[in-house]
Amino acid sequence: DKGGWSSFMAKEVAEQPDAVANTLRGRIVDDAVVVPELAAFGDEALAGIRRIVIIACGTAAYAGMTAQYAIEKWARVPVTVELSHEFRYRDPVITDDTLVISISQSGETMDTLMAVKYAREAGARVISICNTQGATIPRESDAVVYTHAGPEVAVASTKAFVAQITALYLFGLHLARVRGSLSVEEQAEQVRELVAIPAKIATVLESSATVAQLAHWMADTRAVLFLGRHVGFPIAMEGALKLKELAYIHAEGFAAGELKHGPIALIEPGQPVFVVVPSPRGSATLHPKVVSNIQEIRARGARVIAIAEEGDAAVLPFADEVVRIPLAAPLFEPLLAVVPLQIFAMELSIAKGLDVDQPRNLAKSVTVE
Ligand code: F6R
Repeated sequence: DKGGWSSFMAKEVAEQPDAVANTLRGRIVDDAVVVPELAAFGDEALAGIRRIVIIACGTAAYAGMTAQYAIEKWARVPVTVELSHEFRYRDPVITDDTLVISISQSGETMDTLMAVKYAREAGARVISICNTQGATIPRESDAVVYTHAGPEVAVASTKAFVAQITALYLFGLHLARVRGSLSVEEQAEQVRELVAIPAKIATVLESSATVAQLAHWMADTRAVLFLGRHVGFPIAMEGALKLKELAYIHAEGFAAGELKHGPIALIEPGQPVFVVVPSPRGSATLHPKVVSNIQEIRARGARVIAIAEEGDAAVLPFADEVVRIPLAAPLFEPLLAVVPLQIFAMELSIAKGLDVDQPRNLAKSVTVE
């Protein structure tokens, strides 16, 4: 039931504040993160982990790439992120102090299921992040942390993505607590940021009309580029994936620092480029670098759409459009910056007269390898 919305995707995009809030529920105790499912897995076992490998596909893999920054920063454990189908077939080194985390909305993705089975046979313990109660991947795992995004019907993943990042952040903070790598005050600070996210996503949703308008102007665009840096990098790739699958437009997400190593050659007059701009307060070193990337592409004629923090005036002289997101600590910006990109892809799909909920050639869960 679309509940009055024009599509399941529109409904699910709007449900993102709840998806995050429901995923947090029952997992925060006195400003500290205590995930009951992880406590059951064993805090001692978690404290002994030397390496984390995250496996997932598509949007779920971008959630993993986003969380990699936070988990390493908070828990000081090396984290790598791999596509399930690559991991499984390259004879990876798995030791018994390796923790594998799988991420899957459906819990039925065959590539990820096979990778989970493979990892366990090789001696790793597997914790799964999943949105579907009783699905196959959770049954094959040592522990499950459910995302409580509610059923996701539209083929393009939206609310599951923000819920996955939320669950992974909870994991990271739980791990940091058992490892003692963050002070009580540092933990409380991150928890405060996390619980403020639902209201901030709601604010981003209120300004969605601007992005919608932009999409309708760009209905005959042939290619769109997305740039981001640090946690903005996986968000750039997620923005590009949404656009490919929903609007059938060639789209690429790049790390902004890669620009001069190749992709800048793609910039020609009129080329639309979305740039996820890091906070000038939170990322004092990266913000000017990304602003200078914007200047470089603007000088070559790019049409720049900046996703920037409220009050960031540095982008104004160079951006053609600025989409504002509320202030948040750097690691939490992805949960806000992704929303305008989802809406842009959805609206461009609508502008082209396509089926937003059921893009061609795609299935909601990919149960074949
Ligand atoms: C993109 C999308 C896919 C899925 C991927 C993994 O919008 O929906 O990329 O994210 O197929 O699916 P799950 O999370 O069910 O394993």
